[in-house]
Amino acid sequence: MKKQIKVDLGDRSYNIVIGKNAITEISKLVYNFSKIIVITDDIVYNLHYQCIKNFLPQHQTIVIENGEKAKSFTVANNICEQILQHNIDRKSLIIAFGGGVVGDLAGFVAAILLRGIAFIQVPTTLLAMVDSSVGGKVAINSLYGKNLLGSFYQPKAVICDLDFLATLPNRQFLAGYAEVAKYGFIADNNFFSYLDSNYNDILQGDERHLLEIVAKSCQIKADIVARDEFELGDRALLNFGHTFAHVFETETNYSGEILHGEAVALGMAMAMQMSFKLNLIDKSQLDLALNHLNKLGFKLHASYFRQSWLVDNLVQHLFKDKKNQHKQLVFILLDKIGRAKIIKNVDLQLFIDVLKDFI
Ligand code: GLY
Repeated sequence: MKKQIKVDLGDRSYNIVIGKNAITEISKLVYNFSKIIVITDDIVYNLHYQCIKNFLPQHQTIVIENGEKAKSFTVANNICEQILQHNIDRKSLIIAFGGGVVGDLAGFVAAILLRGIAFIQVPTTLLAMVDSSVGGKVAINSLYGKNLLGSFYQPKAVICDLDFLATLPNRQFLAGYAEVAKYGFIADNNFFSYLDSNYNDILQGDERHLLEIVAKSCQIKADIVARDEFELGDRALLNFGHTFAHVFETETNYSGEILHGEAVALGMAMAMQMSFKLNLIDKSQLDLALNHLNKLGFKLHASYFRQSWLVDNLVQHLFKDKKNQHKQLVFILLDKIGRAKIIKNVDLQLFIDVLKDFI
């Protein structure tokens, strides 16, 4: 069974197709292009390239090294030159085939080549299926931080083939699940209850539940993006837990010492604690939410990842957050499970107090 979700953005609307064997859908989407370029990484290439190859006409394939380091100007430039070498035109298509790094990078390349050519996202990780492949954020990293160079550039379609999840290591699957839980926390209490009742089957990879959680996550994200494509308001709610997460990721130099989803789970726990300290949520809601993350097996203390952290460094990274306005701190907090709020002008000392509870 497959599900289809529309991201409603007027003449830039597109569908997300989700299901087992959804990759077959790609042949219906690619016939009208003059040239097709598949961008993937070495791990996905070895595991899954044969699956996609069978459904595509002649194409160029560019394989990058797996890992966050690929989101650089050097790699983006290299890919552009490899593509331009073959005389592309504006009717060319890029297919981003991989996890979040490949999707962000290939989308960035698509956005700048000839001032923009079409691209399709074919995510292969849970995190990319439920978050980074949807909504058109494309980016590479700067020396000064993650995703600081990029654009909003929507794909023509997103294809989430759940079969790709079978080869995902457990650690990566759980990291992706953090973003799934995020949607329950910020937008849908019923979805949170569903996750809390079914987490065991979800972790076992039960197909019915996988379809449900990917589809529901994409639906919630599609609704938010349709309301606020360029993050002038509500889209910032999707950053719940991410402000805390980014300080740990920056401090570890995106080395994989703490995965993005692991940092998000930890960051959500910290944001919940901050919400509690500000009397936004009550203790029973806090416990329910933290208990869920604990049951899943998330490490909700930074010392699990590194024994000691320098508060000063973490505070410095905090001030690089894109949500901050006029040097005032902005956090996404909860006032109950299923409802998030943007809270401006948060006191630095409160951030430090919460930080000290978790490191
Ligand atoms: N990952 C957050 C967003 O797409 O807005």
